[in-house]
Amino acid sequence: MSSSNAPPLDVALNAAISMRKKLAVPTPDLNAPAPSSAPDLFSNDYLSVTTNPKVRERFLARIVKEPRVFGTSGSRLLFGNKSPHVQFEQRMRAFFRWPAALLFNSGYDANLSFLHSVPQPGDAIVFDELMHASTRDGINMSRCRHSQYGFAHNSVASFREVLQKTLVRHPNIAAGKSTVFIAVETLYSMDGDFCPLRQIIETVEELVPKGSAHIMVDEAHTSGLFGDGRGLVPELGLQDRVHSILHTFSKTWGMSGAVFLTTPLVRHYMIGYARPMIYSTSLPYSHLVALNTTWDFVSGPEGQALVPRLRALAAHFESALHAALARAQVPSDLLALRPRAVPADFPAHVFSPVFPVLTRASKALADVLDAGGYALTPIPFPVVPRGEERIRVVVHAGNTEAEIDEFVARICVWAREFAAREEQEKGEPRATGVLARL
Ligand SMILES: Cc1ncc(COP(=O)(O)O)c(C=O)c1O
Repeated sequence: MSSSNAPPLDVALNAAISMRKKLAVPTPDLNAPAPSSAPDLFSNDYLSVTTNPKVRERFLARIVKEPRVFGTSGSRLLFGNKSPHVQFEQRMRAFFRWPAALLFNSGYDANLSFLHSVPQPGDAIVFDELMHASTRDGINMSRCRHSQYGFAHNSVASFREVLQKTLVRHPNIAAGKSTVFIAVETLYSMDGDFCPLRQIIETVEELVPKGSAHIMVDEAHTSGLFGDGRGLVPELGLQDRVHSILHTFSKTWGMSGAVFLTTPLVRHYMIGYARPMIYSTSLPYSHLVALNTTWDFVSGPEGQALVPRLRALAAHFESALHAALARAQVPSDLLALRPRAVPADFPAHVFSPVFPVLTRASKALADVLDAGGYALTPIPFPVVPRGEERIRVVVHAGNTEAEIDEFVARICVWAREFAAREEQEKGEPRATGVLARL
């Protein structure tokens, strides 16, 4: 069929695909698996649970004893609410010491479920502008899609201003007849920085009458790492001042699925209204066995002992990268670690294993690293603003100092070569000698 009489859907889809290409937004070829011959410095498997041989053995020993291992063939509202689901949910409620817990097939489902269903007509939602897509999608599907207000990332001043404007625009909130929902993440995974949670809560408590605010915190990237595994909110002693918390199992816990901690009333309501949970088959039996196995490991002494190791490796990466960039005189617009301090009021042992490494040539760097077996996805414009293109490096408890050093050396070698090539193209003399010193 010629392009002139191509079906309109083909024309529209091809135009959208071309636009992505023009903007250099990567669309990975899913027919080829991600490279895996080099160390993992990119996934969210912070404690390296997915490759831990002991955890694997324990799972295999357990699964052979299970009478049922496959699917449940029904959503939890229709045949699929089996005793492993109920028991695991009770385990979550007890572990997190929260009044109510609701199990979901993914963190995406949990955020979507809460935000699309719980906010009511007349309510408003105030959220950090860098919230994950699951939250944004939930808000856009909610009854508050026309009363959603983003504030500048991690800015308490911007939050205060947006909240004040929201209260003026929606006087029913201050009158105690409607609710303002506040959505934040503890650790933002593209920037590796932390929410100033205490100041956000204090601002809410100062401006919104008691009972008219519902603070929802997404702990996706801190669950399992702080507060003896219970997350950053209890680590900061703030558990009695927020209303709902999401814990995904897809990062530190090495699995998938999620638990939404909330009030018994919100849980009860969501069972009737949260569409992703109502209309999707519940987690398979084998998944619950795996979840209990990784949970035993991560929340127990073996898993928690890996957290200080992860912290030490994160510090090692940061100092090794700074030193190598300075030694190799890499231009800062070509490769630089984005500064991201832990808030001053956080305990000293809180750290971020996520490092945004800014580079205007993220795609070129990713191509070189992929060829070396690293499973790196570049994050170019327009995914992030122009000038903030990056790669996202994540340190894992299972990495070694040597692996980190080799990676740092590789990216610095690439940067010097790239800079030299650029200079050559401009007709300037090529810088030599620095590479040999790396
Ligand atoms: C902050 C945040 N919330 C929610 C999710 C969704 O979690 P899941 O991958 O378990 O669906 C993610 C996933 O990357 C995330 O980063």
